[in-house]
Amino acid sequence: MTKIAVLVGSLRKDSINRKFAGALEKLAAGQMEFVFADLANLPHYNEDLWDNVPESVTQLKAVIENADAVLIVTPEYSRTYPGVIKDAVDWATRPWGKNSWAGKPLAITGTSPGAIGTAIAQNHLRTTMVAVGTAVMGQPELYYSYKPEHFGANGDIVDEATKTYLESWIGSFAGWIANTGR
Ligand SMILES: Cc1cc2nc3c(=O)[nH]c(=O)nc-3n(C[C@H](O)[C@H](O)[C@H](O)COP(=O)(O)O)c2cc1C
Repeated sequence: MTKIAVLVGSLRKDSINRKFAGALEKLAAGQMEFVFADLANLPHYNEDLWDNVPESVTQLKAVIENADAVLIVTPEYSRTYPGVIKDAVDWATRPWGKNSWAGKPLAITGTSPGAIGTAIAQNHLRTTMVAVGTAVMGQPELYYSYKPEHFGANGDIVDEATKTYLESWIGSFAGWIANTGR
């Protein structure tokens, strides 16, 4: 079973991105195990905190390092990705020489109620994740414009066309992970 560290860029309980990540988890069941990183207690990046490392930082780095690949599911805030994701990215690059991201296969997706479904946020994040040394899947892209009617009561995707596309995207991610040698 391929282990996937999942980072969700929204902390709110009714997050559509958390819901979308949960739907992807269900569609990937049997081939991927999703391990959700807890970003709620992550402080802003502060070099001084390495003197007494916060448990949330240690845990984040462990979740990434113990995974075969990483999936980031993020909203778009002010036409980029949210600060919680930036803090997670920065913490996991340090301490110097212990970059948890190095060589990890990674995919990015996200959802918003708007028509472009986080395209700009994802584009910015892709640049960042290349810079920190992950192997970012470039294609296929997945910009999901959120539609509540696509979800059943238990969080499953009930819209057949959407389900088919998402399953195919997960298959591409699995292929990407295999091809990058993890
Ligand atoms: C501070 C802030 C900025 C936002 N900026 C954008 C934006 O640039 N583009 C967009 O499509 N939606 C934007 N939104 C709307 C979000 O897509 C929407 O709130 C979404 O539900 C957030 O994801 P979540 O439900 O996972 O928390 C913004 C929301 C917030 C709170």
